[in-house]
Amino acid sequence: MPGLGDATRGRLLFGGDYNPEQWPEETWHEDVRLMKAARVNSVTLGVFSWSKLEPEPGAREFGWLDTLMDLMHEHGIGVVLATPTSSPPPWLGRLHPDTLPVTEDGRTEWWGGRQHFSHSSATYRHHAAAITEDLAARYGGHPALTLWHINNEYCTADHGDQAAAAFRRWLRARYGTLDALNETWGTAFWGQHYDTWDGILPPRLPHYLRNPGQVLDFRRFTSDMLLECCTAERDIVRRHSPHVPVTTNFMPLWSGVDAWRWAREEDVVSVDLYPDPRDPLGAQHGALVQDMTRSQARGPWMLMEQAAGPVNWRGVNHPKPRGLNRLWSLQAVARGADAVCYFQWRQSRQGAEKFHSGMVGHAGEEGRTFQEITRLGADLERIAPAVTGRPVPARVAVLHDWHAWWAGDQDGRLSGRVEYPDVLSAWHRALWQAHLTTDFAHPEHDLAPYALVVVPQLYALTDAAVGNLLAYTRQGGTLVCGFLTGVADQDDRVRPGGMDARLRQLFGIRTLHEWWPLEAGETVACEGFRGTLWSEELEGDGTAEEIVPYRGGELDGLPAVLRKGRAWYLSTLPEPGPLRDLLASVARDAGVRPVLDGLPDRVEAVRRGELLFVLNHGREPVTVEVPGTHHDLLTGTDVTGRVTLGRYGAAVLRP
Ligand code: GAL
Repeated sequence: MPGLGDATRGRLLFGGDYNPEQWPEETWHEDVRLMKAARVNSVTLGVFSWSKLEPEPGAREFGWLDTLMDLMHEHGIGVVLATPTSSPPPWLGRLHPDTLPVTEDGRTEWWGGRQHFSHSSATYRHHAAAITEDLAARYGGHPALTLWHINNEYCTADHGDQAAAAFRRWLRARYGTLDALNETWGTAFWGQHYDTWDGILPPRLPHYLRNPGQVLDFRRFTSDMLLECCTAERDIVRRHSPHVPVTTNFMPLWSGVDAWRWAREEDVVSVDLYPDPRDPLGAQHGALVQDMTRSQARGPWMLMEQAAGPVNWRGVNHPKPRGLNRLWSLQAVARGADAVCYFQWRQSRQGAEKFHSGMVGHAGEEGRTFQEITRLGADLERIAPAVTGRPVPARVAVLHDWHAWWAGDQDGRLSGRVEYPDVLSAWHRALWQAHLTTDFAHPEHDLAPYALVVVPQLYALTDAAVGNLLAYTRQGGTLVCGFLTGVADQDDRVRPGGMDARLRQLFGIRTLHEWWPLEAGETVACEGFRGTLWSEELEGDGTAEEIVPYRGGELDGLPAVLRKGRAWYLSTLPEPGPLRDLLASVARDAGVRPVLDGLPDRVEAVRRGELLFVLNHGREPVTVEVPGTHHDLLTGTDVTGRVTLGRYGAAVLRP
């Protein structure tokens, strides 16, 4: 099976989405000149080009793309070629309204934007396959082609009638009998018993709370249906070009698709990443997404899209201050990316994203953004030979599972303030601030490579996952679990006792009496720290070896944190500092050292292969102790004992 290595051939891919159909042909030549100046070696063509390629049903307009593929090849620029199926031409919706998705409240999503396709529509799939087939037949052997890019950010749900029929087929395959479905969805509650498959619908706007089993299965179904669309196109392009790797770009920490499952179906895992330049924790958000993508890829991955400057879809959209684009790009490379790409090459003059930055902005060649892009291109070329293909070692894993997220994120919860991505991020942030490099893992993955495994929150766990956690601790692993873990089984049935009995025994908990969610701004005192978001009324069974109690209030004296052997349970979310300190100390006891000792705040250090990346996320210069003598690949100079980094500065050190 090909991988990203085949596409990069020892280089770091550098470039972005290229939409030349928005520009006259003279601009294409100007583009190539600027691409060469910036050392761009990869462009993604065709992402939204369906109506250009097939302006009317069955027509094919490949001439413009022939010219561009050849032009890129002539200049040594590889092409990531996209199937254009995420934005069907207006004629498809007009002639075949069955291709349009329907929202939960019955609204049709019309053409005029993008991603207006129903994953369940046989008509959509037929037309998508036809254009993909012809595209692959024409360009599968083109020397410029380095990678196939299927669709773009699969994310649409459909609640319409076709989706209903497909949902029923999916449910029949899953359950076999209606009895099994009724039992699993708990339809005895509120008299929801189904007497015929035809009565089952996707979740549509109800009068009151939705059935959680139905919602959970609908999310699984949606992910599976989108994956079917993706693999159908993948199989077509593979037939024409078996040696060209295939990817589809994920959105970061997006709830819509089970990316663990999807990653197994692609050759290269790629992601789009847009931290807010004003967010003081933007760098940590980046690190989280990068760690997760690397873990899905189990090796090098591709940063398919980022912004050279502002995006245009936040309430207020800020540019990247000088140096930040370079710093965040180097961060992605440090955390395993072998490709640093953007949306998009040239900022559009028209259309919905004309205020979204490009590598070449409205200010053109003279603009700061392009000047910085050019500098970055040179930096990437300098470090590429020492970095591409190299692994990022991590001895800590954060467990994450989409099914647990979907099961927990439902109507009728005890606290709408507990948002899974926030909890996951709070734990990752604590590890990031402790300078511990982390992988992500699925709860049923082999955890043996890790000295420390943390579970921020896995509301629903399969029996196999519980067994995996127990086996991991039996074999000497250290496990730290957060609240609302192991509450339900895979069907969202609450485990007797409100938490899996085997886990309770693991942590030394006899009874979980009540959950005590906290209001915004409310904290709960615990010995030595304050907890946020949540607390629990727990009774120990006398076997825990260490207990940190709640202090004051209703829970006074009851355990907030329990440790039994190497298994820890946190029934609240400690404030950021204490959570960082706790995890740092547990990691130390488990034999895991930070990447570097004594790092100043705002400085991140990551090892990749034999290289040490040191990144200053602050605006003030810092000096960092780096024992020994190193060669800084970015400056070409040697450093001994310490390195000074300017505002948003970076060093890439080889011993
Ligand atoms: C991504 C998308 C791109 C572009 C970008 C803007 O979600 O794939 O086409 O819209 O966002 O930030």
